[in-house]
Amino acid sequence: MAAGAVTQDTSATTVRTARRVPFGAALEYDHFISDPDYTALFVSHCDMIFPMNALKWDALQACPGEFDFSRADDILSFAETLGRGTYGHTFVWYNALPQWVEEIDRPAQAEAALIDHVRTVASRFSGRVPVWDVVNEVIAHDPAHEGPWRDSLWMRLLGPAHVDIAFSAAAEAAPGAELAVNDYDLEFTGPRYDARREAVLDLVRRLQDRQLRIDAIGIQGHLYPEIPIDHQGLGRFIRDLEALGVGYRLTEIDVIDWNLPPDAALRDEMAAEHVGNLLDAAFSAALPRSVSTWGLSDRYSWISDVMPHRAGAPNRPLPFDEALKPKPMYEVIQRYLSA
Ligand code: G3I
Repeated sequence: MAAGAVTQDTSATTVRTARRVPFGAALEYDHFISDPDYTALFVSHCDMIFPMNALKWDALQACPGEFDFSRADDILSFAETLGRGTYGHTFVWYNALPQWVEEIDRPAQAEAALIDHVRTVASRFSGRVPVWDVVNEVIAHDPAHEGPWRDSLWMRLLGPAHVDIAFSAAAEAAPGAELAVNDYDLEFTGPRYDARREAVLDLVRRLQDRQLRIDAIGIQGHLYPEIPIDHQGLGRFIRDLEALGVGYRLTEIDVIDWNLPPDAALRDEMAAEHVGNLLDAAFSAALPRSVSTWGLSDRYSWISDVMPHRAGAPNRPLPFDEALKPKPMYEVIQRYLSA
C-alpha cells in the first residue's frame, strides 16, 4: 500500500448513501500519495475509486517489455481494501504513449506491441478490474470533415483494424471484464456531435459484425456550459446503444468553466445546472452503469492546466471545492444517483 494511503482511516468500508447507480472518481497517483485529506474525500463519497493515469501505457510500460504495475496496484488495492469498485482506463489511446511506442514505424511491430500490451495488462488485472476502456478517443474530433477515425499512431500503421485487434486481445485476456469504448463530445447539440454519436454507433456495429464483444460506451462528459446538452439526441443515442445490446457509463464528468462569470457562487450554480442537464437527458433514456467524475475536488484538475479561467479566477470544475466542501454539483449528482 502506498505511503500516503496507510494514514487514511479505512474503517469506513461502505459509502454512506445506498445509490441505485454507483458513483466514482478518478484518482491521480501523485495526489493519492501526497494528499491524505484529498484521498479521504474519495473514501467518504465514492463507490468506485480508480486510477486516473496509472493504468495508461506510459505509466505501465515506459520501456519495451518492462512493466511497472506498482502505482496502479497501490490505487486498486486501496479501493479493494475498502470494498469499493474500480475501473480500467485505458489500453489504447493516441496519447500517453512512451517515446519507444511513438517511434514504431512498421505495422507488424505496432500490432505486436499492441497485442502484447493489452494481453499483459488485461491478464495481470483479470478478476480485479471489472471494466476496461479498451480504446479511448478513437473517433475523429469532427467526423464529417476528417473521416470517422481519429488520427493516431495506431490508425496510421494499422488502420481501424487496431480497434478490432485490441478488443480481440482484451476479450481473450480478461474474459470476465466489461469491454468499453470511451469518448468525448457525445452529449451536445449540433451536427458535429450528431456525427460523433453516429460514428460511435458505427464502431459498435463494426465490432459486432466481426463477432467481437463490446459491452458499453463511456460517455466522458467533459462539459462546456456554452454548448447545450442535446436531450433528444443523447437519449436517442443511448436507446440505439441499448437496441444493440450495449450499455453506457458516464465516465469523466467535469465542467470546463473558463468562459463562465468569475463569481464563484454563480459559476457553481451554472456548472451544477449543466451537469443536471446531462444527467436528466441520460437518465431519462436508461440508467447508466456508473457515474464518475474526473477528479473529485477543484484542488486538482487538468482543466486548470489546459483551459484556465479567462479572467484568471481559479477553475471550479468538480463536485467539491478546493477546501473539499461539497458544491451544488455534488448535490445534483447525488439526487440522480439516489432517486
Ligand atoms: O506524475 C508526473 C509528475 O511526477 C511530474 O512531476 C509532472 C511534471 O509534468 O508530470 C506528472 O505526470 C502528468 C500527469 O498528468 C499527472 O499530473 C503527466 O505529465 C500528464 O501528461 C498527465 O496528464 C493527464 C492526461 O490525461 C494525459 O495522460 C491528465 O492528468 C489527465 O487528466 C488526462 O486525462 C484525460 C483522459 O485520460 C481521457 N479523456 C480526457 C482527459 C483529460 O485530458
